[in-house]
Amino acid sequence: MKKLLNFKLKIWRQKNHQTKGYFQSYTIENISPNSSFLEMLDILNDKIVRSKQDFPISFDHDCREGICGMCSLYINGRAHGPDHLITTCQLHMRKFKNNQLIYVEPWRSQSFPIIRDLIVDRSAFDRIIISGGFISVNTFGKTIDGNIIPVPKEQAEKSFDAATCIGCGACVAACKNKSAMLFVAAKVAQFSFLPQGKIERKNRVRKMVQKMDEEGFGSCTNNKTCEVECPKGISTEYISILNKEYICSFT
Ligand code: SF4
Ligand code: FES
Repeated sequence: MKKLLNFKLKIWRQKNHQTKGYFQSYTIENISPNSSFLEMLDILNDKIVRSKQDFPISFDHDCREGICGMCSLYINGRAHGPDHLITTCQLHMRKFKNNQLIYVEPWRSQSFPIIRDLIVDRSAFDRIIISGGFISVNTFGKTIDGNIIPVPKEQAEKSFDAATCIGCGACVAACKNKSAMLFVAAKVAQFSFLPQGKIERKNRVRKMVQKMDEEGFGSCTNNKTCEVECPKGISTEYISILNKEYICSFT
């Protein structure tokens, strides 16, 4: 059996968006190296609840398998922690050393206000998607089988790669400008590469970029930290595609 691990934790606690936050220190012992980071937080919360001295730490999660994009944690200064191409829920405690000090913070962005502790409100992303992230097709009795429309393999693969974005917001949290360009680029590109998405292509990109600006996200200065921290490996090449789509939408 592998050696159990102990950790010192400094976790961001904040009652709500209006109150001031602070780091609270905790120690946790006998954690299996095979526990996930969220399981470690579950064990800590169990300990906090049993002590009856504090409220459990609020953190977001849903699927716990890298699909939903809810588990938005900044761990030791890295979005989704020290591992590469994974979400926080896929991070294991074996990636940390015994007795290591671990800082846990929420995403930091004025467009993602803190709801409580480690949970932020990422509904700005939903509003960007709603502003133009759909395709209007006639589904009233005359639905055309998608396979009837041929799509070149390279186009289909580029669309699919963009569609793997899970809307987690790590790109925003990692960016010094708090830019949402990588997210918006992925959401625009997943449709613009497909024939079905070309009908509203110009309107869509204009509306989504406008909404992104209205929501207060910063501009891209090619820092590329978004690409490094994106758990799905979305390339900044898509930001070039977004810029091209945007410029061409006015022609
Ligand atoms: S582009 Fe990557 S980091 Fe940004 S929201 Fe999508 S999956 Fe998350
Ligand atoms: S909980 Fe769904 S991606 Fe982590």
